[in-house]
Amino acid sequence: MTQKTLDFEVESTIEVPIFNKFLPTISKMDDGPVKVNEWDIPNTIKELSYLTHSHYRYYGKFPSVVAGQILEQLPPPSDKHYVLDNFCGSGTTLVEAKLRGIKSFGLDISWLSVLASNVKVSNVDISAVQAELRLLVQWFEKNKCSFEAPEDSFSQKWFEDCAAKDLNAIRHYLLNLTESEVKDFLVVAFIGIVRRVSKAHDGEVRPHINKKKKQRDVISAFSKKVNDMCKDHIDFIGLVDDNVNATSLLGDNLSLPEQFDDGLCYLAISHPPYLNSFNYAPVFSLEFYWGELFEEHYTGGVKKLYKSEMRAHPANEKLTEGYFSHLKKCYEETYRIQKDGAYLAIVIGDCTRNKKLVPVVQKTIELVKEIGYELVEVNYRTTHYGLGKYAYSHRADYHGDQEEKKDGIIIFKK
Ligand SMILES: C[S@@+](CC[C@H](N)C(=O)[O-])C[C@H]1O[C@@H](n2cnc3c(N)ncnc32)[C@H](O)[C@@H]1O
Repeated sequence: MTQKTLDFEVESTIEVPIFNKFLPTISKMDDGPVKVNEWDIPNTIKELSYLTHSHYRYYGKFPSVVAGQILEQLPPPSDKHYVLDNFCGSGTTLVEAKLRGIKSFGLDISWLSVLASNVKVSNVDISAVQAELRLLVQWFEKNKCSFEAPEDSFSQKWFEDCAAKDLNAIRHYLLNLTESEVKDFLVVAFIGIVRRVSKAHDGEVRPHINKKKKQRDVISAFSKKVNDMCKDHIDFIGLVDDNVNATSLLGDNLSLPEQFDDGLCYLAISHPPYLNSFNYAPVFSLEFYWGELFEEHYTGGVKKLYKSEMRAHPANEKLTEGYFSHLKKCYEETYRIQKDGAYLAIVIGDCTRNKKLVPVVQKTIELVKEIGYELVEVNYRTTHYGLGKYAYSHRADYHGDQEEKKDGIIIFKK
């Protein structure tokens, strides 16, 4: 790290840990009773996908440093207190919390998200993963010809025949492994390559056929994915204390599990789907298709919970009403489990509907205040990544040309 002093530069010997390197630059806009700031996050997705954040590509995740900055500002007062992310997605909050030695829980309606979140923070034995990968590749080379592509129209639409055969073979091997952290790790890697080896665009949120896509070799893509994850995971394990709990649970945030009735949730971090952006289940339809046979194990038989996810698109009047009523109910739940003095940080953005602004940030502030929380801080973030051909410029984007659209990190206190 280079520190600027009066007229010369000195090299510090203390390295900033990677997870603190890209924290937002904060400018104060109002220092009144409710603080208003701007958080500038100029980094690329690649820079912000350090350590295990890159294990699983999750459309609509927040930059790791958003969770990091909230945790820096509001660290729980003891190691009994914890952070709960009630829309935990791919577990960004859990990774950032564990890196800081903070106990955390996540909740999501999608079993794939819960699995990916748990794998990202696991203390899996990486040499055992590598040994299993070697066995899998040997087995694959001997047995791949015995597998056919599924015959249904979904598979035929989204996958070349040879890719579907190979995916089928790898899935067969993984299904036969005994339950373990190694298996979970490999299943996440498997689900993580599905989009890449499909006929769909890699970068688009909702899958669309890319007629120009070059077919990738499935077993090479899988091996590379596992090896990349192993490298990142070793670095992560080296930085964290495994005694610090980080667990994601499958469930609907409209009714929090009893275990959270202990009064120890000091901070709830919450990043709901953005209004008028997209719904998660259809975006992950290819992954759910190849994951289906694993589902029962990871859900304990609770089938297709992800189908009752909070809907965010298209934002017609009825859906918008349901969206805000979901927000109100789920924050009534966090309020119910939290003690006075605890915090709620909501990460949420405005959108436009028929070219008219829907002031989601302001509406959220109002409805959360109605529940009884006090507003203490509003941070508006600028996020520079997401520009380019895959940005949904007509939906939720916050890149300058729509000055009035805000993306906020709103902090409340009970
Ligand atoms: C914007 S994403 C969160 C992304 C997360 N911050 C991350 O970095 O990966 C919203 C998440 O809410 C989940 N979700 C939707 N409805 C839910 C519900 N009723 N209960 C719990 N989670 C829900 C979706 O499955 C999705 O993963």
